[in-house]
Amino acid sequence: MISKETIDKILEYARIEEVVGDFVHLKKAGANYKGVCPFHDEKTPSFVVSPAKNIYKCFGCGAAGDPLKFVMEHEHLNYPEGLKYLASKYRIEVEETNTQLSDEQKAEQTNKDSLFIAMKYAAKYYQDELLNTEEGKVVGLSYFHYRGFTDKTINDFELGYAPDGFENFTKAAQKVGYQLSILQKAGLVKAKDEKHFYDFFRARVMFPIHNLSGKVVAFGGRIMTKDVKQAKYINSPETEIYTKGKLVYGIFQAKNEIRKQDACYLVEGYTDVLSFYQAGITNIVASSGTALTKEQVRLIKRFSNNIILIYDGDKAGINAALRGVDIMLEEDMNVKVVVLPDGEDPDSFVNSKGAEVTLQYIQDNKKDFIFFKADILLKSANNDPSLKANAIRSIVESLALIQDPIRKAFYTRECSTLAELSEDILIKEVNKFAIQLYKQRKQITDSADIDLAKELIEQKVKIEQESIPQSPIDNQLANQEKDVLRILFLHGNRVMSDEEIVVNYILNHIEGTPFFNQTYQKIFNTYVEFYDNGVSFENLQDDKFYQDEEIKSFIIDLNISPYELSPKWESQYNIVVKGRERVWEYDVVSTINRYMYHKILERLKVIDQEIKELSINGSPDNFEQIEQKLQEKLHLQNSKKEIAKIPGTVIFK
Ligand code: CTP
Ligand code: MN
Repeated sequence: MISKETIDKILEYARIEEVVGDFVHLKKAGANYKGVCPFHDEKTPSFVVSPAKNIYKCFGCGAAGDPLKFVMEHEHLNYPEGLKYLASKYRIEVEETNTQLSDEQKAEQTNKDSLFIAMKYAAKYYQDELLNTEEGKVVGLSYFHYRGFTDKTINDFELGYAPDGFENFTKAAQKVGYQLSILQKAGLVKAKDEKHFYDFFRARVMFPIHNLSGKVVAFGGRIMTKDVKQAKYINSPETEIYTKGKLVYGIFQAKNEIRKQDACYLVEGYTDVLSFYQAGITNIVASSGTALTKEQVRLIKRFSNNIILIYDGDKAGINAALRGVDIMLEEDMNVKVVVLPDGEDPDSFVNSKGAEVTLQYIQDNKKDFIFFKADILLKSANNDPSLKANAIRSIVESLALIQDPIRKAFYTRECSTLAELSEDILIKEVNKFAIQLYKQRKQITDSADIDLAKELIEQKVKIEQESIPQSPIDNQLANQEKDVLRILFLHGNRVMSDEEIVVNYILNHIEGTPFFNQTYQKIFNTYVEFYDNGVSFENLQDDKFYQDEEIKSFIIDLNISPYELSPKWESQYNIVVKGRERVWEYDVVSTINRYMYHKILERLKVIDQEIKELSINGSPDNFEQIEQKLQEKLHLQNSKKEIAKIPGTVIFK
């Protein structure tokens, strides 16, 4: 049972517009939002969300309720599942009054586990068919070889072969004890009628899709014949362990390299990933032929902010590149686009030209997304004034999504040249749109912020006198930094509920905000270096690590802290956890939040100083810079507020 306190907290934190906004595109309409109803089929929006009342109501089909009701209905969740969904969205720790799992939860757990087990079995089965059967070798393996894949690649991606025939897999799986119901739920077996079942994948080469922790959660299967009536690829249906829009193909194999290189290549197809990987360009993932989703972008963002789209040179490829990019900009990713020569896809290109030429081609041809978009739209507008106006509006919308003020200013200037438009006008348009967006998303209720926003629109820049008190933040910051190291050492290797490894979670959140304390930075780097080289956490007790005096004394220091570190990690958990299962995860999340909070305070202090300096040398040229600083400040203040709202973020006065 979820405790009453937790339920109250969840209901208090859940904002209807945010909860609905994850699924429905909402547009501001007076005090409310409007969108197309997700519960019935309609063309004109009659679905209304009221932030003031914290409810939704559809005037078309009558659906109505609060945030909890919405997720329950929309995601087909039961009551505790709905609560847990919201708790995780708002990072609220779920307190269970009875630590025993309910029967329902137990069933769900075993259900998921059994799906994982069935998928693992299937992957092995297909692999075995590929490598050890006559049909597999003749049809599947020779096809992969013909495509140029080596045995290592085939092995690294656990490629397989599903034999021709209707019951090969079904029979084999049943024989070793898998229940039909589980096989069906996993999307491996389909029912013809109540008594007859058949293999979902037949006569196809198989591409297992791995989740972040390397478990197989789905398959893509490619046809072996030129049958135009059948799809070239079929993919597993969505299941309890697989949501298509939340995963990208190859992320498990690519993630470390993406982080190391601080860049991720994004292509469309399975074979594109394999060929790049095989050529040694291993920071590569695929969207698997669908439009990119926010979740997919966020997944990549955990490892790097730099994303390079590589698309076919045909029209479809360019359109695919144009889609999805606003999502990436919104997530503050650096997006570059590379268009391949007509007729080539990444797979064919790297296969015929090799890695070196490919990387050089990427280097020479990658274009900032904004320029890519501006270029294409403006060219296709071809001086038609109304097309050009549309093009500019679309560019403005993209520019407004960029969060970083310096990048935004830079791109705006360049685009004004491309569009042959005065920079002032473009800035004004972008700001107008940005503030509209900002209000829409963040629901500014705080009047001070609205005023600041207004000033920005009118470009009447005024220096705010209110400044952050001169408390010894540095010292507090050092404590926060140390705390980050503490969770790194204590929990670095653990897997969080969304399957992310703690060390990655930490890296993703603090990347680009290095420690002030040089010793801590060094310790942190050393840890990451070990981690990158595959040295597991336990081995940090290793002599190698102890050779460094500073690190040694840090570990000793940790050893006498309340969160003792000892070689017997497991028993330690019990001490920290005190019987409550996921306390360590809460510890991780809240520590990072506190750290980010203090980083923001620090940055705000610096910005205030910078604004002061700029305003002293009050030349008109400085206005633009001041405006940018103010925008950054607005952005930071907002983030600060958001973080402070999260339970567990201790606020120092
Ligand atoms: N795709 C799919 N279903 C289809 C066609 C494509 O799911 N019917 C997805 C697959 O993930 C595929 C990607 O879209 O890898 C790109 O499609 P396409 O370019 O047609 O295939 P390739 O990856 O080039 O495959 P191949 O080289 O084997 O023809
Ligand atoms: Mn191809």
